[in-house]
Amino acid sequence: MFFYVKKNLLSYNIMNFKYIVSKIPTKQLYNVNIYKDITKFGNMNFQIHNDSAILNNLWIDEPKKGHGTKIINQFENYVKFKYDTKQIKLLAWQPQGSTNVLDFYCKNGYTEKEMLRMNYDDGIIIYDLYRFEKNINNY
Ligand SMILES: CC(C)(COP(=O)(O)OP(=O)(O)OC[C@H]1O[C@@H](n2cnc3c(N)ncnc32)[C@H](O)[C@@H]1OP(=O)(O)O)[C@@H](O)C(=O)NCCC(=O)NCCS
Repeated sequence: MFFYVKKNLLSYNIMNFKYIVSKIPTKQLYNVNIYKDITKFGNMNFQIHNDSAILNNLWIDEPKKGHGTKIINQFENYVKFKYDTKQIKLLAWQPQGSTNVLDFYCKNGYTEKEMLRMNYDDGIIIYDLYRFEKNINNY
């Protein structure tokens, strides 16, 4: 269930999360603020290209409690039914030496697309970058 807050701003309530989706028209970019109760709880952004959604920078507070799984499943349903999206693509940022982000996407049915691994050093942490995809056409 959704309602318009104002132009370019949509609000959705799904289970105990509230999503405020705003569109940045010049960049064809959608920013999603995620609330749990009345508290800001996370954020992500995405773009739609043909039949694909490109997900960027998903983060939430209170990790490792199953919230990320619920949110990404709700995101998949949202882009499938609103934009007729057939697949989700993303670039996962995994701090070197750990596997939690990879485990999260693998556990949610994402597969590594190609061995195009790169890394990025922000001056404090070195990240390995992984391309993941999930076909959402079948459900
Ligand atoms: C990545 C993120 C969105 C996952 O959401 P989450 O709520 O923590 O994930 P879930 O609790 O739904 O976990 C699902 C699976 O992911 C893996 N996982 C998630 N967090 C983990 C951790 N800290 N350590 C190990 N595995 C982890 C596990 O396989 C877990 O399954 P399990 O609970 O049966 O062991 C969240 O941890 C987060 O916001 N992290 C910081 C930002 C970030 O790194 N974003 C990704 C950028 S690409």
